[in-house]
Amino acid sequence: MKDLFEKIYKDKGPLGKWASQAEGYFVFPKLEGQISNRMKFQGKDVITWSINDYLGLANHPEIRKVDGEAGVAYGSAYPMGARMMSGHTDLHETLQNELAEFVGKEAAYLLNFGYQGMVSTIDALVSKDDIIVYDVDAHACIIDGVRLHMGKRFTYKHNDIVSLEKNLERATKMAEQTGGGILVISEGVFGMRGEQGKLKEIAALKQKYNFRFLVDDAHGFGTQGATGAGTGEEQGVQGDIDVYFATFAKSMAGTGAFIAADKEIIDYLKYNLRSQMFAKSLQMQLVVGARKRLEMLKTMPELKNKLWENTNALQSGLKERGFDIGTTQSCVTPVYLKGSIPEAMALVKDLRENFGVFCSIVVYPVIPKGLILLRLIPTATHTLEDIQITLDAFDAIRARLENGTYQRLSAAVMAAMEE
Ligand SMILES: Cc1ncc(COP(=O)(O)O)c(C=O)c1O
Repeated sequence: MKDLFEKIYKDKGPLGKWASQAEGYFVFPKLEGQISNRMKFQGKDVITWSINDYLGLANHPEIRKVDGEAGVAYGSAYPMGARMMSGHTDLHETLQNELAEFVGKEAAYLLNFGYQGMVSTIDALVSKDDIIVYDVDAHACIIDGVRLHMGKRFTYKHNDIVSLEKNLERATKMAEQTGGGILVISEGVFGMRGEQGKLKEIAALKQKYNFRFLVDDAHGFGTQGATGAGTGEEQGVQGDIDVYFATFAKSMAGTGAFIAADKEIIDYLKYNLRSQMFAKSLQMQLVVGARKRLEMLKTMPELKNKLWENTNALQSGLKERGFDIGTTQSCVTPVYLKGSIPEAMALVKDLRENFGVFCSIVVYPVIPKGLILLRLIPTATHTLEDIQITLDAFDAIRARLENGTYQRLSAAVMAAMEE
C-alpha cells in the first residue's frame, strides 16, 4: 500500500511545481507599507495595480480610526460561538438590515468569508433533486459549492445565452423527472477578464423557464450601479436576482461577506447555512468596520466617481496605445500580450524592477498557451500620474517583448538555472 504523502512528495500540483522559481516574487510576493496606490516591493517603491481596494477605503483615516476603536472596545474574540448558539448581537442584525436595504432586498445574512459562504449557500439552496446551471468561468467558490451538490449540474459557455438556454431546456426536462427545481448561477462581474455577467438576458429567460437566480457580485458591489449597489442595479434587474451575494474583501476593504434575498429565504438560510452554523460568528471589529465602510460607500459617491475616472483614463489610454484589453465592462483591466511563460516572467520582472509597476500576471493554464495576461485593478487612490507612468511603462515593455529582449533574458535565466 502506498503512503498517502507519496503523491505530494512527487507532484506539487500545477502551481506548486513552479514554487522554486516563482515563490516570493511571482507568487506569494510581500507588498509592504500602508495599502494604497504606492507600496514597497522588495524595498523598492511600486505603483500597485493588484489590490481590490476599489474605493480606497482600506487606509482611509476614518476607517482606520473606527477599526482601531472597535478593536479596543471589543478585542478580536467577541462574540464567541456560532451565531445560532452564542455569537449573535444587535450590531450583526443592524449591519444585515443596512446591507439588505442598500441592495434592495428584504433581508440579508452575514458570512464569515465570501468563499466559504458561497460554497455553503449553494449547498443550502439545493437538494439532490434540483439542477444547477452555471457559467463555466465561475469563481472557485461557485465551482466548489456545486461540487457539494448531490444532483445534476450543467455548465453553460461563458456568458453565452444560447448555451444557457440549451442547458435550461435539458435541466427543465430533468427537473420534471426528478421533481426538483433549477438554480442558475452567474457572477455580476467576472474578476479575471472584467466582463459583466449577462444578468439582464438571464433574468429575461425567467419568462420562459422556471429557475431561481444566484449572483456572485464580489467585484460589482460598490463599483457598479448608480448608487454602487452592484451589477443588478447597473443592469436594472436587481429585483430578478433571487439571491444576491457580495464579499467585503473588495470595495469594502474588509473581511466577511453577505447574502441578500427575500426574508423567507434568508430565514431558511439562517438555519441551514453550515458555514455559519458550525463556525464562529463574524468578529465584532469586522462588523463595526463593515458598517462604517457601508456608510462611506453610500454617502461618498466621490469615491466611486474617482474610481471610474481612473478606470476610464487607464482603459482609454491603453486602447489608444493599441493594447488589447479584451471585453472588460468593469474596473477590472486585463491587458493581453503574446509570449511564453519565461518571457512573461522576464517582462513582469522588468516592470517591477525598472518601471516600478506592480501588477498581477496570469499565464497558461488559466488562459490559453502563448498568451500573457497582465491584470490591473484601478482604485480611487490612484492618480493620473500613476496612470501616465504605467502607460509609458507598458509601451516600453511591449517594445521589448516584440524585439525579443525577454526571450533572450529568459533564455539566459533558464540556462543559469540548469547549470
Ligand atoms: C467572484 C468572487 N467570489 C468570491 C470571492 C471570495 O470572497 P472572500 O475573499 O470574502 O472569501 C472572491 C474573491 O476573493 C471573488 O472574486
